[in-house]
Amino acid sequence: MPSYADFYRQSIDQRDTFWAEQAQLIDWQTPPRQICDYSNPPFAKWFVGGTTNLCHNAIDRHLKDRASQPALVAISTETDTERSYSFAELHAEVQRMAAVLQSLGVKKGDRVLIYMPMIAEAAFAMLACVRIGALHSVVFGGFASGSLASRIEDAEPVAIVSADAGSRGGKSVPYKPLLDEAIALSKHKPTAVLMVDRGLAPMAMRAGRDHDWAALRAQHLNAAVPCEWVESTHPSYTLYTSGTTGKPKGVQRDTGGYTVALAASMKHIFDAQAGQTYFATSDIGWVVGHSYIIYGPLIAGMTTIMYEGLPTRPDAGVWWSIVEKYKVTHMFSAPTAVRVLKKHDASWLQKYDVSTLKALWLAGEPLDEPTAQWISDALSVPIIDNYWQTETGWPILTLANGVEQQTTRFGSPGKAMYGYNVKLIDESNGEELTAPNQKGVVAIEGPLPPGCMQTVWRDDERFVNTYWKSIPGRLIYSTFDWGIRDADGYHFILGRTDDVINVAGHRLGTREIEESISSHPNIAEVAVVGVADSLKGQVAMAFAVPRDASGLVDDAARLKLEGEVMKQVDSQLGAVARPARVYFVTVLPKTRSGKLLRRALQAVAERRDPGDLTTMDDPVALQQVKDLVGS
Ligand code: PRX
Repeated sequence: MPSYADFYRQSIDQRDTFWAEQAQLIDWQTPPRQICDYSNPPFAKWFVGGTTNLCHNAIDRHLKDRASQPALVAISTETDTERSYSFAELHAEVQRMAAVLQSLGVKKGDRVLIYMPMIAEAAFAMLACVRIGALHSVVFGGFASGSLASRIEDAEPVAIVSADAGSRGGKSVPYKPLLDEAIALSKHKPTAVLMVDRGLAPMAMRAGRDHDWAALRAQHLNAAVPCEWVESTHPSYTLYTSGTTGKPKGVQRDTGGYTVALAASMKHIFDAQAGQTYFATSDIGWVVGHSYIIYGPLIAGMTTIMYEGLPTRPDAGVWWSIVEKYKVTHMFSAPTAVRVLKKHDASWLQKYDVSTLKALWLAGEPLDEPTAQWISDALSVPIIDNYWQTETGWPILTLANGVEQQTTRFGSPGKAMYGYNVKLIDESNGEELTAPNQKGVVAIEGPLPPGCMQTVWRDDERFVNTYWKSIPGRLIYSTFDWGIRDADGYHFILGRTDDVINVAGHRLGTREIEESISSHPNIAEVAVVGVADSLKGQVAMAFAVPRDASGLVDDAARLKLEGEVMKQVDSQLGAVARPARVYFVTVLPKTRSGKLLRRALQAVAERRDPGDLTTMDDPVALQQVKDLVGS
């Protein structure tokens, strides 16, 4: 076994040799001719000339050895159901879904938007798309009609797959009315809408456009839909994520690079074996759901668990009862979920036998030391932080324990992963910081390794302009996170450099929330900032200037307007984006040239010192904020 340091070095210094070896971990119909084509930076083409299929690598390839092993177990504590599918059964279901999508006109290269709760059919739909070379674009079920409409418009899907309702805390959340409204709002209209009826909410079906999954499935019970062999560079999916500007970006992923990257991560990062069981508690609407609920574990021949429900219902022992029952070996969650569990007695975690667990991986937001320590003590298994992004598809910083066992340092997600040429950049002059313990922007020198985004969907220019900077002779990808690296190569992430906030592991753009709030008829201007929160990591807080404040005479009137604004965000973006508070002010803190003093506003909202305010136009603005938040 090489040391991790040697393994990492080889991945950077002998890039093509390294990745040619990793490419052996998957099945190719035609092997690649060239490992990496970086002749047109920053666009990297991985495994050029190779043809493969993501669904083949996730399912068909395992039929020979493990057809009857469970592939997917869909557990819902909302509907009290558990459905298990062997690789053979999953193969059959995915072919049925593929046949149905084809009957609705979906072809290679077409987009299919998936707006679904955490049910097995969502997995069938994703796998069916990549099976036939169509691109899925999963939209998180917690998003409402406005967010959904903008994604429909950008992805231009031929078909949409959805369900009557999701369920949260035992209450059903109807999806169909939101979907109908989103389609009405969007300039692009899908040809077909495929609805899974769970019997949770009534649905108005539109003749000619809307179809019932169960009825169409019954017509394709014996469907045999072969995998479409696609070029390695053929896009497998797009997934929207927020940045500084209001409009979400469609992160576009390839096929071959992604399949190889996931297969390699299952081996080197997760030290996973076929036949083991992986339980990621994320949602298919997020990147963790794509990489580590659906594709990664299946590519590795593991059983994957999909979970619909809360971590604390019926009680705080529910996830650990699943670990015991299914002998889960690998678990993946987010710090917020752990902070929720931390409010309950640790004995809930100890009621069950979790000795099968090799480790618990946590990602999506900073993992604070007390939270890491609490869960480490409660479970007595290694806790492994990992840092990455929708854009990268797999961890940038963590510990590759499959290569060499490394020591966890609480507070640090760990070391640069193989393939990522991680740099820290001095923001003031754009130069690389090489000495340890200096704060800079976490950046990656191109080419990005396999599995990372190819481009922004239909917007190469935006990809280049948003993410890439040149430092003499080199192109560098910015993560928009601050970080430092210590002398041993352990990194620490210190928050975003842009206007993205992270609420309970959900990445949100403050500009999107501002746009939604400003569309309220009585709001003239608004600023939204992320404020530290002990449970959710951050929450959104809005400071709004009403157009007409004459009615805001007392707390009741202010609360009424605050309620209206929150409802507006709920209905346009979804409850995930709802600000924790909306405060009304007469003026926002700005510079004399009219630029919003966002950092100062955030500091005061967090009861911190706002720093240098010499450029501020009107000191009353920050005083009002101080009075409102009580600092
Ligand atoms: O700011 C970083 C934070 O979440 C951002 C990426 O979010 P998303 O695109 O939703 O992808 C999540 C994939 C796990 C990052 O730019 N972030 C993610 N993981 C960590 C983190 N911050 C600190 N520590 C982490 N482990």
